[in-house]
Amino acid sequence: MAMASAEGCLHTLSGVPHSLHYRLSFFNYVSPVLSFSCGANYGKRRDPKQMSWHGISKLLKHQARVHSIPTVGCIPRGSSKLIRSHSLICKCQRTESNSGLSVESGTKPEFSHNGTNGRLTVEESEAVRRLNNGNEDLASNGMHMQSEATREKVQMGSSKSMEDEAWDLLRDSIAYYCNNPIGTIAANDPSCPSILNYDQVFIRDFVPSGIAFLLKGEFDIVRNFILHTLQLQSWEKTMDSYSPGQGLMPASFKVRTVPLEGDDSATEEILDPDFGEAAIGRVAPVDSGLWWIILLRAYGKCSGDLSVQERVDVQTGIKMILKLCLADGFDMFPTLLVTDGSCMIDRRMGIHGHPLEIQSLFYSALLCAREMLTPEDASADLLRALNNRLIALSFHIREYYWIDMRKLNEIYRYTTEEYSYDAVNKFNIYPDQIPPWLVNWMPNRGGYLIGNLQPAHMDFRFFSLGNLWSIVSSLATVDQSHAILDLIEAKWADLVAEMPFKICYPALEGQEWRIVTGSDPKNTPWSYHNGGSWPTLLWQLTVACIKMNRPEIAENAVRIAERCISNDRWPEYYDTKRARFIGKQARLFQTWSIAGYLVSKLLLSNPSAVRILVNEEDVDLVNAFSCMISSNPRRKRGRTAVERRFIV
Ligand code: GLC
Repeated sequence: MAMASAEGCLHTLSGVPHSLHYRLSFFNYVSPVLSFSCGANYGKRRDPKQMSWHGISKLLKHQARVHSIPTVGCIPRGSSKLIRSHSLICKCQRTESNSGLSVESGTKPEFSHNGTNGRLTVEESEAVRRLNNGNEDLASNGMHMQSEATREKVQMGSSKSMEDEAWDLLRDSIAYYCNNPIGTIAANDPSCPSILNYDQVFIRDFVPSGIAFLLKGEFDIVRNFILHTLQLQSWEKTMDSYSPGQGLMPASFKVRTVPLEGDDSATEEILDPDFGEAAIGRVAPVDSGLWWIILLRAYGKCSGDLSVQERVDVQTGIKMILKLCLADGFDMFPTLLVTDGSCMIDRRMGIHGHPLEIQSLFYSALLCAREMLTPEDASADLLRALNNRLIALSFHIREYYWIDMRKLNEIYRYTTEEYSYDAVNKFNIYPDQIPPWLVNWMPNRGGYLIGNLQPAHMDFRFFSLGNLWSIVSSLATVDQSHAILDLIEAKWADLVAEMPFKICYPALEGQEWRIVTGSDPKNTPWSYHNGGSWPTLLWQLTVACIKMNRPEIAENAVRIAERCISNDRWPEYYDTKRARFIGKQARLFQTWSIAGYLVSKLLLSNPSAVRILVNEEDVDLVNAFSCMISSNPRRKRGRTAVERRFIV
C-alpha cells in the first residue's frame, strides 16, 4: 500500500479529497529539489478493516500505485552509494525469501557515514563491554553505575572523548530513505528485547538531533527531515473510521522496505507515519507540528538557506498547522485544549486540558511562524488571528499560571464562588487545593508556571519542559524567567540531583497515582514520566540558561550528567527521587539523550548560537500586555474598591 511518487499521483487525482490533491500537487512541484533519484513513497500499514471501510482510500492507493514510478532499490546517484543500494536490495530479498512478508529497513543502514558497519565495530563493542565490565549485573537490574573506579576506567580506557563517542552514536542512529539521511531513530539499544516503536523517527526526538547537526554545519539531514515529514502531514490518517484534522504532523514515522508490487524480486522503500493510531494509548501528537515549525526556523537561521521556508508547499504546511491550532472550538481560554499524553509525556499523567508544555511550544511556534510566513493576501486573516492569539496567550499564562510565594499566599486567601465579570478568583480555585508539599517547597526567591489550569483546578506540579520553553520563547516575562532559574537553583537537589533533569516534580503517589495514571506500572512514583529524570532535557535547560545569561547553571548540570551518562550507556531516563538508578524500562543508547548532551556542549562553547532557537520578547506584545494588565480587574480591585457588577 505504498503511496506513489508525486509525479505519478498527479495524473490520478480525480475523486481524490481536495486537501490531498493540493499537497500532492505541491510535492510534484518540489520533488526535483529533493534531489533524490527515487520517487518518494509515503505508506500506510495494510489494514484490512480500513480497506473495507474506506473504498475511496483503497481506490486512491490503487490508482496511485498504477501510476507510480517504480523505485526498485532506490538507485542512488553517487557511485559510492551503490554499495548501500545493492546491499539494501540484497537484504530485502533475503528477508523476503524467509518470510514472504514486508521487511523493516531504513533504520539500520548497512553502511554508515564512515563506511564502517553502522553499529559499533567488534573492537569498539568489546571496549564498551570491557569498560562496563563489573557493572553488567547491576545495569541489567536497572542499577545506576556510578562507581568512581568505573568512571575512571572509562575515561582512561577510552581514547575517544565523550563528545566523539556521542557523535558516533548519533550518526549510528541515522535513518536513511533512498540512501539519504532523513532523521534519527529514537533508540539504538541492541540489548533491548522489546523495540516497540523506538526504531522509528519521532518528530520531537529528532529536534535535538537536528539542532546538533545544524550546529555542526550538517544541514542536509534536517532539510530532508523537514521536507519529508511535510509530505506526511497531509497523508490520510484514520483511527478506526475517524480522521483527525488536516495539518496534524505524525508522532513518528518508519522507513520500511516492502516488496515491489507485482515484482517479488525487487523492493521499494516507503515512509510509514504514525499519527497516534498505532501508538500506545492512541495519543494525539499535538506537539509534533509545533516542533516542526520551531525546527524549520532554526534550519533557516542556522544554514542561511531561507529557500526551504519560502517554498509554497512549506508555507502551506505552516498554515495548515496554524489553522488546526487556531480553529474555533468551545474554549473560553486562549490556551490550546488537548487530550492527555499529547506531548513528550505521551501517556496518561493527568495533563489533559491546557498543559504548560503545549502552551509554551504553541507560543513559540506562533512566533516562529509569524517570522517565516511570506506576506500575501491569503495570510492576512491568519496573521491577524495569530497576533490576537499571541497577546491573549501570553497574558493568560503570565497572569494565571504564575506562582511564587506572593501569589501562593494570594490563592491561600482567595474568596470563592464569585459570580461576576470582575472576579479575582476567576477559575474558582478552592484554597484547599494548595498541596501541602508546595507550602514548604516554594522558595522565598523564585517561582514557576504551574502545569495546567482548568475551572476549579490548578495543577501545581512543576513541569520542566514547559517552564524551560517558556523562558526560551519569552512566554514568561524576563522577571519570571529569572525567577524560574532561581527556583531551579534553589531546588537543585530535587530537580537535578544525580542526573539532570526531572521531567516533573513531585511524583504522583498512592491513591492519586492510581486514579490519575490508571495504575500505570511504567509511571510508578519517581519513574519515567512520573518524576523520572530525563537527560535530554539538558538541551532545553542550556538554551534557557544561555538566553538569560546564566550559562553556569547549565554548565553545572552538564558536569553532573557527564559523571555517568556515557558509562551508563546514554539511558532514556533515570528513576528514584534523586535519579540514582537507570530507569526501570529505560532504553539505552537513547538518541535524544545523546543529542541533548551534544547540543548543550555545542551551545555552551558557542552561546550566541542559541539565537536559532530563542524568541526575543516582542515590543508590540509587551505594550499590549501592559494595557491588559492595567485593565485587569484584579489589579483594579486591589487598588480601588471597584463596584462589583453581578449578572443575575
Ligand atoms: C516515549 C516518550 C516520548 C518519546 C518516545 C520516543 O514514549 O514519552 O516523549 O518521544 O518515547 O523516544
